Amino acid sequence: MRALAVETSCDETSASVVEMEGDRFRVLSLTVKSQVIHERFGGIVPELAARAHVEVIYDVVAKALSDAGVSLSEIDIHAATKGPGLAASLVVGVEFSKTLALAFRRPFVGVNHLIGHIYSAYLSAPDLRPPFLTLIVSGGHTELVWVEGWYSFRLLGHTLDDAAGEAFDKGGRTLGLGYPAGPKIDRLAKEGDRRFHRFPRPKIKRRGYFFSFSGLKTALLHYARAKGEDFIARNLPSVAASYQEAIVGHLLDVVERAYMELKPPALVVVGGVALNSRLREVFRGRFGDSVIFAKPEYCTDNAAMIGAAALKKYELFGEDGQEVGIYPSLGVIEP
Ligand code: KG4
Ligand code: ZN
Repeated sequence: MRALAVETSCDETSASVVEMEGDRFRVLSLTVKSQVIHERFGGIVPELAARAHVEVIYDVVAKALSDAGVSLSEIDIHAATKGPGLAASLVVGVEFSKTLALAFRRPFVGVNHLIGHIYSAYLSAPDLRPPFLTLIVSGGHTELVWVEGWYSFRLLGHTLDDAAGEAFDKGGRTLGLGYPAGPKIDRLAKEGDRRFHRFPRPKIKRRGYFFSFSGLKTALLHYARAKGEDFIARNLPSVAASYQEAIVGHLLDVVERAYMELKPPALVVVGGVALNSRLREVFRGRFGDSVIFAKPEYCTDNAAMIGAAALKKYELFGEDGQEVGIYPSLGVIEP
């Protein structure tokens, strides 16, 4: 079974040809085109994102097909991210993919982006099988999910305010780093002292496995204002390292508690923030070989993870058909 998948939920236009044989996936090709227009605005501008998807989607899909060496008639199912994400951007991928499905009389499968992120783990660790515990950490999401079966998920907790990636991006704006700031903070922090300043760790009263990053973001803002621009500029690597340490520390605190209580056979970390080198170091130190990180190419938004999730979903539940729409605020438990 072979899928052509497209992903246009945010600021990456991506296409991929993925095959499934039994419970194993093979990525034949993956093209990702990242939009750079948003850098100027310090964040994503939805209208610009949608327009940029329209401009490049044809070429991105054509390249994925030619890299894989397959033609459209050799595709068994068409898939696209149906949500969550930016409405006008989701429409581009879903309509493009549905049109191909219609023209070639193939099934169409709409995929939940968060389930796609979970499937990036299977692409990274082919022997991984449910059940396992997953931390999804991206620019838009911070969720802790118990993966019960191939397509059965239990949301254990989520962020109560900002996502972990947002904490990096908004904190980076305070430090004058530009968007997206996650990779920049990661790089800067390597030359800094993470004990330079101790930012407060969030205290969450609600029972369960919840996260909160907005207090941390505000603490950095107050700190930067109190210390002044010169001080921050002189100590940028250490301030970045201290701030990063607080984000990573909070993620570890919550995940560690879940890990102790639920004793999962494996812990999986996926999403753009899973690229963070300090997060990898700290989690590896704490959980050893039982922690699995998505491969770098599957951490940030990509269509390969969407293709893998679509193939499994099709096998288990069949097609969605042409009537499926877009679902901008879809949660992780809704397939
Ligand atoms: O998964 P992703 O590509 O998009 C969403 O679905 O949101 O994640 C993008 C996020 C951004 O917030 C970016 O700053 C963050 O991932 N990110 C990082 C690193 N690389 C990307 N955060 C921390 N350290 C990194 N190395
Ligand atoms: Zn994502």
